Amino acid sequence: MSQVTTTDGFRAERIDTASKWYDLFQKGVELGTWNVEKLFDEVGFEEDREIWRSLEPVEQKQIRYLVSGFLDGEFAVGEDASHHLQRIVGAPCFDDSEEMEMYMSIFTLTEHKHTQFLDVYMHEVMGDQDVFADLNPKRGGARIPIVQATGLGEIFDRQGQLTARAAHSQDPVDIAKALTVYHMIVEGLLARGGFYAINKLSQNAPLPLLNHGFKFISTDEGRHMTHGVEALGELLAKERAGEPEFQGVGRAIEDVLYENVASVADFGYMFTDAVGDPLEISFDDLLMRVGHLIDGQFNEALALDIDHRKIIGLVADRHQECLEKDIDEEVREYQEIYQRKRGVAADGGR
Ligand SMILES: [Fe+2]
Ligand SMILES: [Fe+2]
Repeated sequence: MSQVTTTDGFRAERIDTASKWYDLFQKGVELGTWNVEKLFDEVGFEEDREIWRSLEPVEQKQIRYLVSGFLDGEFAVGEDASHHLQRIVGAPCFDDSEEMEMYMSIFTLTEHKHTQFLDVYMHEVMGDQDVFADLNPKRGGARIPIVQATGLGEIFDRQGQLTARAAHSQDPVDIAKALTVYHMIVEGLLARGGFYAINKLSQNAPLPLLNHGFKFISTDEGRHMTHGVEALGELLAKERAGEPEFQGVGRAIEDVLYENVASVADFGYMFTDAVGDPLEISFDDLLMRVGHLIDGQFNEALALDIDHRKIIGLVADRHQECLEKDIDEEVREYQEIYQRKRGVAADGGR
């Protein structure tokens, strides 16, 4: 049977062109195909290199941490989209939505482009760093030491575990957990908190190419978030309609938020007074922003009832743990571990 469409005066045989997933797919085709190499050609690296060289070492360190979190994060979401999300959107609980699977293809493409932009940018502009990309090729190299040392890397591990499990079981509750950590926490809180930080630091360190790239990345991520909220909304609607296999979806979303929200403190560590916050990003402002995002994503968009005081307590406790650690010392330890691994890898493990 032909699908009836309400847009643009045409319809298709197999694809529902009135579907919200079709709409997201089409928006992705229109807006998500910006060309990273073309952006490099048009804006160039030189002005960013000059500004980068003029920054104080503490300012460089702060930007490097922020962009490192993005590089490892984008790599992780790209991998999990390719391997797991594509299977998740094909699960029976999404009613064999062809349009959702179409959208996922452009979604995955954009995540890989984000990695492409950040990887080249860090290499070309920030230079002389060691991202240990030659280690552990399955995950595209070891994580950057600062990402591992603050604990931020753990949320990416959690995302990998939950998306893998959901792709395998195709169970609605497992899927709700996977999509919550992927779309609501990593994309919704960490990446959006990161965009906020990039915007703020651009007042003190106006890196034109970095800002251009992040404008495109944040627009793409806006569509990814819409997808996440819509997908979780569908699962919740079925739970609320009383469908037996969907029972537990809402509880799973809340549990995953409480279990993982402290990663905001790992990410926010570099904007605290502990490191001087030379670019004036402000951890408190970041937290306020995250509080609004939690309200919008969980309470308003999904009609859940998140306990704010509990969230603040969880983030504050982790923040205290971060302050009690000697992060620089831990960074050095990770660098040494990676150097040893690299030595082992080079001689084939003999
Ligand atoms: Fe991304
Ligand atoms: Fe994304």
